[in-house]
Amino acid sequence: MNPNDPSPETDNGNTVTFRRPRARDGKRIWEIARDSRVLDVNSPYAYVLWSQDFSETSIVAEFDGDVVGFATGYRRPAAPDTLMVWQVAVDETQRGKQIAKRMVCELFRHCAQAGVVAINTTISPDNQASQRLFAGAARALGLQLTREPFFSAELFIDSHEPEDLYLLTPGSAQ
Ligand SMILES: CC(C)(COP(=O)(O)OP(=O)(O)OC[C@H]1O[C@@H](n2cnc3c(N)ncnc32)[C@H](O)[C@@H]1OP(=O)(O)O)[C@@H](O)C(=O)NCCC(=O)NCCS
Repeated sequence: MNPNDPSPETDNGNTVTFRRPRARDGKRIWEIARDSRVLDVNSPYAYVLWSQDFSETSIVAEFDGDVVGFATGYRRPAAPDTLMVWQVAVDETQRGKQIAKRMVCELFRHCAQAGVVAINTTISPDNQASQRLFAGAARALGLQLTREPFFSAELFIDSHEPEDLYLLTPGSAQ
């Protein structure tokens, strides 16, 4: 996906478009993360930096000219053919319209052009929405979904749930 060539998707007659984030999107991404009340909210600086330096492995969704969703990601340093999707959130008013799933799929397809073949993400056991999101993305992309323990709760200084690693890999999709 070229940032100058966003993929239009119709949504009840309106249009959702997807593009690479830019530094100026950092503020809005921070707001969406904060308003999710689920994500660990990084500093405003972190989202500006991420939108600048990890733009090729991140995505935003726009609806009626406003950024309404984002997914941040990076290529895993020890496995550059794997896209680690870090955070995904959609503005509450826009949920249930497949925007998150479309962001993950669009992002994967964009990264696939640069050699990415798999997606990893970490999800806490209580985040059913996220589990369903990545199960749906795996189906849509024809990837196999497996899960393994990743970060145990005692690694975190705050009262954080453990995080499982979800692996979406090429192979026979379940
Ligand atoms: C999780 C979140 C990104 C989903 O956004 P969304 O645009 O509403 O999701 P989609 O419409 O693309 O739904 C994708 C799939 O997830 C399922 N899903 C979405 N929200 C769900 C929920 N609250 N409970 C159960 N399943 C849910 C959908 O039914 C759909 O399943 P399908 O593929 O079988 O049809 C959004 O609820 C959110 O921002 N939550 C707060 C932040 C968060 O938890 N992020 C994930 C961790 S990084």
